[in-house]
Amino acid sequence: MRKVLIISLAILLSLSIQLKINSAEKVELMKTDWTFKGLLGKFDRASLQRGYQVYTEVCAACHSMKYISYRNLMEKGGPEFSEAQVKAIAASFEVTDGPNADGEMFLRPARLSDKFPMPYPNEKAAQAANGGAYPPDMSVLAKARKGGVDYLYSVLLGYEDPPEGVTLDEGVYYNKFMYGNKIKMPKVLEDDLIEYSDGTSVTEEQMAKDVVTFLMWSAEPHLETRHKMGFRAIIYLIILTVLVYFSMKKIWSRVESEV
Ligand code: HEC
Repeated sequence: MRKVLIISLAILLSLSIQLKINSAEKVELMKTDWTFKGLLGKFDRASLQRGYQVYTEVCAACHSMKYISYRNLMEKGGPEFSEAQVKAIAASFEVTDGPNADGEMFLRPARLSDKFPMPYPNEKAAQAANGGAYPPDMSVLAKARKGGVDYLYSVLLGYEDPPEGVTLDEGVYYNKFMYGNKIKMPKVLEDDLIEYSDGTSVTEEQMAKDVVTFLMWSAEPHLETRHKMGFRAIIYLIILTVLVYFSMKKIWSRVESEV
């Protein structure tokens, strides 16, 4: 017994030392109070809707979200726009369809079942327009990057003037949180860049928080259901533990104590 205890303590200790070493090398990511974190975390509906607006008005110029279709915007657990709203949103975009009877492709307004349009015809075109760097697809970016939402939030707000002695090539920007501190995406968020219809003030931090919330939903659309199930499972386990405890007491109460 003692041996097991000592061994597990040693393992724990070495793990925590390793964690410390790892985190000491990195810059601390910026944090904000995400409503979807924690056992009972839920998305802030208004923030998701504003986040969609930031994506579509700012990020969609360069970043695709090829796995998301307009219909998703009205599903439960997401931004939950009304059907009329989503139809209007979709209709404001054009997608290529076809070929028609003459064998030609044509443009038509998007429908609920259409995916979000791609900003560039192909990867090469995207790279050519961005100094050789590819703006990654954003559908699951929040899950694909180490640091997740905190990382995305930090990159958006991490632009700084380069420290003395650091020179940057044309089209390269200094960012505290990118690997090597260099990024080929310009700083895109500025206070009052867009207009929120719900009166929320348009600060850089607010836009970053909203768009990252939206990206978290797109990467994990069933987060709310998962949290709900997890919570129920825990309640169930607590009740079960109590029941088992009392039935155990009852069963063993029949056995005469020897002392
Ligand atoms: C002008 C085009 C452009 C716009 C607009 C733009 N980006 Fe980017 N973004 C890029 C490019 C190019 C890269 C790749 C940079 C690199 O690899 O150096 C990038 C990279 C990123 C990364 C880093 C991803 C990684 O690989 O770790 C994040 C996060 C990001 N963009 C988020 C956003 C968000 C959110 C918006 C909207 C608010 C946005 N971007 C708007 C071009 C753009």
